[in-house]
Amino acid sequence: MCGIIGVLGKHEVSPIIYDALKRLEYRGYDSAGIATVNEGTLDRRRAVGKLINLSDLLVHQPLPGRAGIGHTRWATHGGPSVANAHPHQAGRVAVVHNGIIENFRALRSELTEQGVAFDSETDTETIVQLASQYLSQGMTPVQAARATLKRLDGAFALAFLFEGEDDLIICARRGSPLCIGHGTGEMYLGSDAIALAEMTDRITYLEEGDWAILTRDGVQIFDAEDHQTSRPLTRINAAQARVDKSGHRHFMAKEMAEQPAILQASMAAYSGPGEGGINLPEGLDFAQADRLILVACGTAYYACQVAKYWFEQFAGIPVELDIASEFRYRQPVLGRANMAIFVSQSGETADTLAALRHVRPHVGQVAAVVNVPTSSIARESDVVLPIHAGPEIGVASTKAFTAQMQVLALLALAAGRARGHLDADTFAARMDDLRAAPGYIAQALDREDDIRRLTEMLSKARDVLFLGRGVMYPLALEGALKLKEISYIHAEAYAAGELKHGPIALIDEDMPVIVLAPHDALFEKTASNMQEVLARQGKVLLISDARGLEEAGEVPWRLQMPRVPDLIAPMVYAVPAQLIAYHTALHRGTDVDQPRNLAKSVTVE
Ligand code: F6R
Repeated sequence: MCGIIGVLGKHEVSPIIYDALKRLEYRGYDSAGIATVNEGTLDRRRAVGKLINLSDLLVHQPLPGRAGIGHTRWATHGGPSVANAHPHQAGRVAVVHNGIIENFRALRSELTEQGVAFDSETDTETIVQLASQYLSQGMTPVQAARATLKRLDGAFALAFLFEGEDDLIICARRGSPLCIGHGTGEMYLGSDAIALAEMTDRITYLEEGDWAILTRDGVQIFDAEDHQTSRPLTRINAAQARVDKSGHRHFMAKEMAEQPAILQASMAAYSGPGEGGINLPEGLDFAQADRLILVACGTAYYACQVAKYWFEQFAGIPVELDIASEFRYRQPVLGRANMAIFVSQSGETADTLAALRHVRPHVGQVAAVVNVPTSSIARESDVVLPIHAGPEIGVASTKAFTAQMQVLALLALAAGRARGHLDADTFAARMDDLRAAPGYIAQALDREDDIRRLTEMLSKARDVLFLGRGVMYPLALEGALKLKEISYIHAEAYAAGELKHGPIALIDEDMPVIVLAPHDALFEKTASNMQEVLARQGKVLLISDARGLEEAGEVPWRLQMPRVPDLIAPMVYAVPAQLIAYHTALHRGTDVDQPRNLAKSVTVE
């Protein structure tokens, strides 16, 4: 959700900033821009659409300078246009910004009354106009930046660049992540360490409320009260932070293919001398918890929905499940004996973070299941459970989903033991199931050619229904979400038994219905619902194992999955859900990794 970058370099910075923006493009691709200071002169280039358009512009209109800032945008205030693209500039200052300035309307009318003319519809322009006003009142760049920051409400990360200042960038973090990279005679800043991985492995993460003055010699960091402070310098694993497609056509393809290895590595990371060979971080007390609250958005929410079944089944603990963006706007009844678990790939999703801050004072324990252990959600939780999936760049979440489910399954089993709800033998057997998951997922990935063939007919559909029962219901929801977001085909998911309560009216010979139904205790019930669809000429694609396919009888389309233990069926059936969306999108020629209107890491509410 908007990526920002800053470089004080020894050489020309435009190419360096452009390369870093490529690594940040997953955060937004509505427009992009770069500003530099060259021998004191501030100048900028901006282009609408993918980053490649900025590259074309830079070929014709190069942007010299050894100090610069860059931005890739996901539009919030004002549509994608050159005027709304960052960096914004007013007078002697330029700004790149990620997040929302909540009081921008008030600031804009105040400035307009003073005669300031705005060039764009963005909230960001108020920042740059304010800073420009302060500069023209005689403030130094540092004073002007500080005075501007004090006027801003909202959650954001931003960076200022000033005319006449070849060795200065000022940046600030309030609600959106920002990190500083240390080079040799060079300094960098970026929305995440991935952006800086090609330049340095020495990173300082700014804390909430911090602002910083960067020069080529180093960084001075100030906290929200303007006290100079120091933040630890950490070394990141640059190889892990580096992002490439490793020979795959898309990041999504690479990330789906990585799933067996990731689940294996994550299992190894949680292995130890604890019961069943697993070690969870200290500090989680399931025995004392009277209720679990699971909160997340999108795909992560569906992982929580699956986990609800597990926590109830294995640990006998009541589970409340909430979409983060809704959670704060109810009046949830919270208590000290509650444990809240927030699940987020990025760890920066604004809705999830806001929900966490909302429950924090009221519940006894707060845990985070995240992919980015340095993220805001991780930092603000008592206990962090990393999913060890590595950077996920494809906008459609895939490997994070299966890895989230794996960690949540581990937690549910551990909770079962802690609460005396699960006997040692059953616990050991379910742990063996989890260890077998990577192998079964690899088998599911091997069905790719069959899936590719099946998606030819799906790619022509206008609407698609997904059905599932039990843990396959959230899987159906995830399948529909994936298909919508990358192929732009309208898709809905229903609990299979719910179809007859209304949606069955949609069924006709043009409506593909994808039924996710391993041969488990619920199979017969789901198969009956499928028959109701077939009786109305619905075009069913049944995804099941050999036994399920055999018992189902005549079905127009079928996809055979390996026979898997119940616990890991959601992880294995995630693969056809993902591959169906992927190959349907390829048939339709849509942009798989950067679907329209979307961005990774949604840092606005
Ligand atoms: C869908 C997708 C989104 C995210 C959601 C939460 O493919 O990626 O629905 O799952 O935006 O993001 P995180 O997990 O980063 O909190």
